[in-house]
Amino acid sequence: MLAVFASGTGTTLQTLMDCQERYNYQVSLVVVNRACQAQERAEQEGIATLLSKDWQQIDQALTSHQIQLIVLAGFLAIIPQWFCEKWDKKIINIHPSLLPKFGGKGMYGIRVHEAVLAAGEEQSGCTVHYVSAEVDGGTIIAQSSVPIMPVDTPEKLAQRVQQAEKNLLPQVIGDLLSNT
Ligand code: GAR
Repeated sequence: MLAVFASGTGTTLQTLMDCQERYNYQVSLVVVNRACQAQERAEQEGIATLLSKDWQQIDQALTSHQIQLIVLAGFLAIIPQWFCEKWDKKIINIHPSLLPKFGGKGMYGIRVHEAVLAAGEEQSGCTVHYVSAEVDGGTIIAQSSVPIMPVDTPEKLAQRVQQAEKNLLPQVIGDLLSNT
């Protein structure tokens, strides 16, 4: 049983919902911290949703849905330390860079790709990592790299990295859940 936390357009959530059968997991709960497209996508698929910023309430919902793994999919709220500790090694995040480079507070979405290009990197990619109280600082589980082209814009690079995310994240989830 999987919970997905999201704040935005929910393309990552959509990938996770589309890959359930292939990787043998079930998205049972979608938690959002504001009204967003991710919530609409979940509702369209008949998946339970919770719009909340109350971490006690979120914690209870996870327990009652018997959640084994929480996936942050473009979730833009900071998770309190007690929650990270309670769900230690049960929360994973997908970040659109090769951490530890280009991570930390304020590094999300297009800003990451802008920073990668400004730094003149030769490659970028995505990272799946466990979530700890330190933003983007938890143990790395898996990474996938993509090349950077001379003509890249942040938007073009974002598309390439998002394709890598779509391949990597469902596979990591399947692996983690088959080992629990
Ligand atoms: C994804 O590309 C994910 O890597 C990034 O937000 C996007 C979510 O898109 N996450 C971060 O930047 C976390 N620091 P979505 O809302 O369409 O799923």
